Amino acid sequence: MTHSPANDSLNPTAVRLDIPALSRSVHGKPLVYLDNAATTPRPKAVIEAMNRYEMEYPANVHRGVHTLSGEATHAYEDARRRIASFLGADSLVFTRGATEAINLVANAWGTCHLKEGDEVLISALEHHANIVPWQMLSATCGCVLKVADVDDAGELHVETVLDAISEKTRLIAMTGVSNALGTVTPIANICEAAKARGITTLVDGAQMVPHMSVDFAALGCDFFTFSGHKMYGPTGIGGLLAGKDTLDNMPPWQGGGDMIETVSFEGSTWNTVPWKFEAGTPNIGGAIGLGAAVDWLSNIGMENIAAREKNLLDNMVNRLDGIERVEIVGRPANRSGAISFLIEGMHPADVGAMLDRHGVAIRAGHHCAQPILHRMGHQSTARLAPAFFNTEDEMETTEAAIRRVIDVFG
Ligand code: ALA
Repeated sequence: MTHSPANDSLNPTAVRLDIPALSRSVHGKPLVYLDNAATTPRPKAVIEAMNRYEMEYPANVHRGVHTLSGEATHAYEDARRRIASFLGADSLVFTRGATEAINLVANAWGTCHLKEGDEVLISALEHHANIVPWQMLSATCGCVLKVADVDDAGELHVETVLDAISEKTRLIAMTGVSNALGTVTPIANICEAAKARGITTLVDGAQMVPHMSVDFAALGCDFFTFSGHKMYGPTGIGGLLAGKDTLDNMPPWQGGGDMIETVSFEGSTWNTVPWKFEAGTPNIGGAIGLGAAVDWLSNIGMENIAAREKNLLDNMVNRLDGIERVEIVGRPANRSGAISFLIEGMHPADVGAMLDRHGVAIRAGHHCAQPILHRMGHQSTARLAPAFFNTEDEMETTEAAIRRVIDVFG
């Protein structure tokens, strides 16, 4: 469906018709899908674009002179152009997702720009994908991982980040939105402060891209990473945004087909960017599907999405605050995409399993972000992650289901 860009009263009933999975039931109850921080369901436009690739032109890219290969190459490269433009960039490197994009930077940039004692500064909010690659790099090159803490509300303050910077800080790698607590970080200010000090920046945008308009050029970071499956695209596709000069000055990471210009047994030369970083046959159908996802999101309008999701989150926070024995974990002033909570006396896994019996799909556990949960004093939480297609009625159903779980559990 198409929405007018000026329409700030997004119609969830119409949007829901675009997403087939939302009409199913679970345990005899209508599905209430609130696990969008883990992955977003795919709209028909994405499924159909991927199907067209498979049904009509399932060929490899950059390799054939025949018609199908030409069509596949055109669709793949056109998807690259549309996705980059959606995010305010000139181009992008396709990766399997944000995790692979961060690993790419750690390996290709990190190994030649960082030496023993250099510091990589992250925040306490990071999910594992923006922690572990730096720890692995630290083990090989001797760089040091430092962490800027959050306050007890789960808020990241620019001053804390500035205080954690030293003359050895070479990279600041931080998320724009916490997947566990929903904290929106002051990432643009952090990038500006880093730039003024000559420090390279990486923004993990995996939780930003589905919820807000992203303009890579305006954000001012050196690297931006994201996942397609968190923005209504397929799994196994995502990307890295970086300036051409930055990428030109990095060696390739993985070697193989497509990333080369020439190969002989004596040595090889590299393709130009972004293909220098895309070794092997890529996820062609995934890239084409992600292209369709950003077209779909553009039609709906990211400003409309952000406005509607803010209302839904406020609605749900108010409801949770009204339930005895429920504790919200993390109280950021600016929240996006997630609300973590606990029910006194219940394990979050039990909460998740019991809500599932009511058709309410949430994630319970450590959300691939164990350190921030430990920082907040917990091992795990239950997490509600609504998206713009959710309705006020679903928020009511969820509140009723949580109350029922508490009643039944005693
Ligand atoms: N990082 C993903 C989540 O937040 C998988 O659930």
